[in-house]
Amino acid sequence: MKSFKTIDEIEVAGKRVFLRGDLNVPMRAGVVTDRTRIEKLVPTIDELADKGARVIVASHFGRPKGKPVPEMSLKPVAQVLSEVMGGKRVRFLADCVGAAVEEAVAKMGDGDVALLENLRFHPGEEKNDPAFAEALAQLADVYVNDAFSAAHRAHASTEGIAHLLPAAAGRLMQAELDALSRALDNPGRPLAALVGGAKISTKLAVLGNLVEKVDMLVIGGAMANTFLFALGKKVGKSLYEPDMAQTARDIAAKAARVGCKVHLPEEVVVARELAPCVAYQTVSIDTVSDDMMILDMGPTSIADLKARLEDCKTLIWNGPLGAFEVPPFDAGTTAAARAAAALTREGRLLTVAGGGDTVAALKHANVMGAFSYVSTAGGAFLEWLEGRELPGVAALYGAAGRG
Ligand code: 3PG
Repeated sequence: MKSFKTIDEIEVAGKRVFLRGDLNVPMRAGVVTDRTRIEKLVPTIDELADKGARVIVASHFGRPKGKPVPEMSLKPVAQVLSEVMGGKRVRFLADCVGAAVEEAVAKMGDGDVALLENLRFHPGEEKNDPAFAEALAQLADVYVNDAFSAAHRAHASTEGIAHLLPAAAGRLMQAELDALSRALDNPGRPLAALVGGAKISTKLAVLGNLVEKVDMLVIGGAMANTFLFALGKKVGKSLYEPDMAQTARDIAAKAARVGCKVHLPEEVVVARELAPCVAYQTVSIDTVSDDMMILDMGPTSIADLKARLEDCKTLIWNGPLGAFEVPPFDAGTTAAARAAAALTREGRLLTVAGGGDTVAALKHANVMGAFSYVSTAGGAFLEWLEGRELPGVAALYGAAGRG
């Protein structure tokens, strides 16, 4: 069985530890607007520092395309990192490789924390250039990867360096891999997946992989409109992808072949436009008129979904069920999220959710803390749902025997 080392299994006291985090946080005009990713990285930093490591934190930020872009500096993040760590000093280093950085690192004491400048200011990072990976490795004795959300990138700091130093997963990476493996590799069954969002075209590979693994696939959001259209239903002015109709039929046929039950809404909430508090109606999917758009799952379909979840042991959720940003079309997503959260609290359902919109929808429903695991990864979570091997994770597995 494949395995990776954790920080329990590597010696870090007195060692220089290169900690790859994901500090690609939302920022406006130099101010961090959401600290979630910083807060999730801090337990690993604290633990390493408490054990006497010299913690060199590194991350990308934005997409500066291999050259320094002042607006994409990680400097403002150093201040927030320090605040989240209760005022502990975080020394910001103005580059991530080179003599000045090596000198500053050499002066660090046990338990000190430093943050390197944006790794993507150097072209070697995204190219996974061996010389750049070597320059990063020069800074440290041990490599810890805590950036699952960047693990779908085969970059020098996520992949190359893992082959050059004793490597281990940080606590966040460990928690993420444990939760994902419990949900999809060794799940309690029945296993359900709830996939929503706007477009089938962006989630084709996800749907293709999930129908082979899950017992029940519930499709919501505008994506469901494409499936309904493909089955000959009238969807009026709804958002849908007419050119994906055959693809939708193929996915439904594959699901039928492998015994995965696909559920589409039978009752929907419709309105003439997508705007807050507009007049709306709840109708059967057989009576959507030409001037209406489908904006949410109807209460009867939500009640059906809740009843089905009662029988499930595991739920994977990606994507909202309706236009949840615009009330009252948040009702379906919120009701489903609260039902899943209640079953999780009762210990009857393992719930794993991820993806940018999904996190926003669960926050909106006020159930973030009630799910078994909510991944802050976007692209990496989707690639994992697609069943793909993530290079940053594979490198940790490959490194497990070493060090
Ligand atoms: C993310 O925000 O999903 C990760 O930090 C990866 O960022 P990237 O898509 O720029 O590689």
